[in-house]
Amino acid sequence: MADLDTLPAFLETLDTEVRDAADWGEVAGYIPELARIDPAQFAISVVLADGRLMRAGQYAQRFSIQSISKVFSLACVLARFGESIWHRVGREPSGDRFDSILLLEQEHGRPRNPFINAGALVTTDELLAGRAPKEALSEIIDFIRTSAGDSDIHFDAEVAASETETGHRNRALAHYLLSFDNLRNPPELVLGTYFHQCAIEMTTDQLALAGRGIAGLADAPLKLSEVKRRRIAALMLTCGHYDGSGDFAFRTGLPGKSGVGGGILLAVPGRASVAIWSPGLNAWGNSRVGTEAAERLARFTGWSVF
Ligand code: DON
Repeated sequence: MADLDTLPAFLETLDTEVRDAADWGEVAGYIPELARIDPAQFAISVVLADGRLMRAGQYAQRFSIQSISKVFSLACVLARFGESIWHRVGREPSGDRFDSILLLEQEHGRPRNPFINAGALVTTDELLAGRAPKEALSEIIDFIRTSAGDSDIHFDAEVAASETETGHRNRALAHYLLSFDNLRNPPELVLGTYFHQCAIEMTTDQLALAGRGIAGLADAPLKLSEVKRRRIAALMLTCGHYDGSGDFAFRTGLPGKSGVGGGILLAVPGRASVAIWSPGLNAWGNSRVGTEAAERLARFTGWSVF
């Protein structure tokens, strides 16, 4: 294990070195508001178990958390309804793209896991439970704000509108789920809630602080039970990077959840909560430079869970 007093200097070096990256990857092109972002950006924030916050790069820049919101919506569902969600969604990696519809037909409308889009739509549907979308959305945002200890966290209405206009695959997934009776609320309400939760904006500082509960840090303002925390982290490790989850686990040895906005939330059980952002993506739709930074951080600190 590295001496954590040397971590700030390591993060500064990491920031300098990743900025020389020849290939930042491509920003998400299918959500017009995200397609306009400069890929050559980087930020990292680390909150340690003793409460110290260390960071480098553009840590005060807000970015769209996108699929990282699926960790928080799952945590809300588990807190509100317990384990009943597992009747409707599985816990296996899919090996397919995050927005794939392929397995849904073969597996009779039960998505493989809560982090692919089909599974996240079911999770959001469960949370909605007949309420108005803004109530479920407030529940997710309040969960994040309380977890981060910061009320200045909001969604970007333009990003949500942009995805509402172009989110045809998610619309297809929602209707397909409904055809298997695995959607209980009207598809448009589920999709509206989902597009808005994905459009939540945060800085890496805020995201790292919000991840303290999932990482099981003692000073987390919102504590999850040990069982729930471990289960969410296990799903992050096995499914958090979609068809790139094996590669991410191989490289970092850590539970992580990516978003197509270029964010990564890493949970280092009992030790740290980490948020990384770099908007250029690799072939799996995960942050290219962010993954590289996560790998280097894991190697420097010896934080692999294995
Ligand atoms: O549903 C979508 O396609 C986006 N709102 C979120 C996808 C996403 O973040 C995939 N992650 N890498």
